[in-house]
Amino acid sequence: MIYKAAGIKKGIAVTQVASSPTFPRSARRDEKQKLLAMNGAKPVSEKAVPFMSTALTAEDKAAVMKVLDSGMLRAASQCAAFEARWAEMTGCGHAMTCANGTVALQLAYEPLIQPGDEVLVPAWSYIATVSMVVARGAIPIFVDALPDTMQIDMVDAARKVTRKTTAIAATHLYGCPVDIDAVEALAGKANLAVVYDSAQGHLAKYKGQPMGAFGDAVTYSMYATKNLATGEGGIITCNEDSLARDIQLLRSHGETEKYLHEHIGYNYRMNDMAGAIGLSRLDRLPQQTAQRRINAGKYDKILAGIDGLIAPSITAGAEAVYHLYVLQLAPGKFACTRDDFANALKAEGVPTAVHYPRSLPNQPALAEFSNDDTPVADGLASRVLALPMHHDLTDDHIRVVGEALNKVAEAYRL
Ligand SMILES: Cc1ncc(COP(=O)(O)O)c(C=O)c1O
Repeated sequence: MIYKAAGIKKGIAVTQVASSPTFPRSARRDEKQKLLAMNGAKPVSEKAVPFMSTALTAEDKAAVMKVLDSGMLRAASQCAAFEARWAEMTGCGHAMTCANGTVALQLAYEPLIQPGDEVLVPAWSYIATVSMVVARGAIPIFVDALPDTMQIDMVDAARKVTRKTTAIAATHLYGCPVDIDAVEALAGKANLAVVYDSAQGHLAKYKGQPMGAFGDAVTYSMYATKNLATGEGGIITCNEDSLARDIQLLRSHGETEKYLHEHIGYNYRMNDMAGAIGLSRLDRLPQQTAQRRINAGKYDKILAGIDGLIAPSITAGAEAVYHLYVLQLAPGKFACTRDDFANALKAEGVPTAVHYPRSLPNQPALAEFSNDDTPVADGLASRVLALPMHHDLTDDHIRVVGEALNKVAEAYRL
């Protein structure tokens, strides 16, 4: 039985039960499937390949202990030092830490977007990119994804600009920068504010330049699983002094001096334990990012030899940081669903994940904004599969992933 999101309209989520797809039987496939670990045969690896690597080092822990010993737990010297280094590493004028990547978006949107504005948003992203537009009282206009890079389709974006459109929010999804030239060109032509959601894109570059060079604001998440992880945490970067001031005030109750509140704001500050972890981890981030790219190159080579599995394409001119390595199962190539494929891989010792099982217009919370006009994004939901990706992957891990992919693909190929 598979469950299909359908008929979600005007805020009413109707989950229809679709009939299981049926696939023609073949004696060859039956024989191959008997060799799968999920059917009782020997797995490629008894020990699962680690899906991610999030462990703290002794230096990270010592940095936190120093903060704890100091008793200064709030955002103080560690957050400030982290902000200064992040601004330098990402080539921007101002870096501001905050509680998480969701409120980073909220803080960036609030000065740039007004209630009632139309905002171009990706149909294929994490929900926060869009939910914070809705929280602002603005109207998200879903833009489809490109089938190869899975990033926002700027041709579709240009089609959807109206007189009410004031901004575009574009996600560097999976750590791959979007077509920034196209975003900037449209923004220039239609006078749009630009926010890049780089929650997954720490240290990514576009045409040789770091992310801080682009847009009105860039936001990051430092959630526990991100390339740069502080547990919970976020960063907003920008180049304009007045925008930085607005964001700083919003982050801390509009307070211009102690207990003087110039306007309404929030408490969205980070803390110095997280600041110390971030600062300590920053030293290793460039090398870890380089290792992710090397690992992605090895996966690319493996996938080039497996009919039916499509490696992720990277935007021209972009240097991706592979927060996730997301392949696609080509439609009509396998006698199984993506989830069956994932279950078979898991039994072979290869855990995977689905980012994401629904496009955003198919999320019940956002259904009222759907126009049923994002077919690529909607289709990706049943095709994408993230392989283990991190700096600690060994050649043996990659060999296991490659053997398992080949074995499962062979067993199901039509
Ligand atoms: C693309 C994207 N945007 C925003 C966020 C929100 O970040 P956080 O979980 O830190 O609030 C995430 C986190 O998963 C994300 O992947």
